[in-house]
Amino acid sequence: MSIKEIKSEDLNPEEFINEKCLALVEETKGGIAVNALSGGVDSSVTTMLAHRAIGERLKTYYIDNGLMRAGESDAVMHTMVKLGVPVELVDAREEFFTALKGVTDPEKKRQAITDTFYKTVFGRLVKESGARFLLQGTIFTDVEETMAGIKRQHNILSQLGIDTQDVYGYKVIEPLIELRKTGVRMVGKALGLPESVYNRPPFPGPALVTRVIGDATPEKIDLVRRATAIVEAELADVNAFQYLAILHEDRVTGVYQGRRSYGNQIEIRCWDSTDAVVAKPTWLSFDLLEKMASRITTEIPEVVSVTYNITTKPPSTIEAL
Ligand code: XMP
Repeated sequence: MSIKEIKSEDLNPEEFINEKCLALVEETKGGIAVNALSGGVDSSVTTMLAHRAIGERLKTYYIDNGLMRAGESDAVMHTMVKLGVPVELVDAREEFFTALKGVTDPEKKRQAITDTFYKTVFGRLVKESGARFLLQGTIFTDVEETMAGIKRQHNILSQLGIDTQDVYGYKVIEPLIELRKTGVRMVGKALGLPESVYNRPPFPGPALVTRVIGDATPEKIDLVRRATAIVEAELADVNAFQYLAILHEDRVTGVYQGRRSYGNQIEIRCWDSTDAVVAKPTWLSFDLLEKMASRITTEIPEVVSVTYNITTKPPSTIEAL
């Protein structure tokens, strides 16, 4: 891999910010750049950095793909407005669900997200805004895992030989590509982002699609969204790296209100990790596990089985896709 990593112990956040601001001014050459904000740490840091560097020449879009967590779109918009960064919400729910319809293969699901995001939605936004650049918060780990053939992260393009200028009609700029998550958080703090943003647990670009095994229909996304809200509420204080709910494709027999029901299975994952490259399941108390199982099966009657993942990464991965 030709990109050189900046390790967090070698990072001076202020110097990094100054250098990247100068580079962004140079790279965008007075033109308009569009920016893909998802609300995650990486994209929020990219947004603040670029806002500082090129101000009004930055057009930030939040794409509502219908795949985000409960209340997430409103929360992301609100945070950025409070920080004085103008953001436009684009409703692309139908485009994403149309592209995902009937797709069950994990890599094809990732590809469907990539195509919809870069070709359909950003292709259109770039044309409408007259921009020539797309800014995004790709980090070193994303490139590393894709190049190692582990997973094709949705945001990896040029490193796979894709000429974005040719294929999508714009150049992609990735100011955080030399950093891992710890470094990104340090830069976010130095940029004045609130701790709730720079210390936010990671959330993948393809969003809840990475947590539905098989066909990601609107109904399944809605089910995993409700389970996610419960898991996130119950695990918010355990100080884990990441925690999530996964909806399995297989159904299992259960009992609901005294009758046989053929229901869904939710798997809970909670990870201890520093950089998502290796991870271990968090040692949770059985009381807490029981409480989550009880809440999930009570509040989501379509679910009759809840399990907790006890596998490390590797061989597991953090998400299910
Ligand atoms: P995995 O599942 O590969 O996840 O162990 C490693 C870390 O990356 C996040 N992740 C993604 N982030 N685009 C992203 O921006 C993706 O396609 C993607 N897939 C996984 C995951 O949440 C974890 O923090």
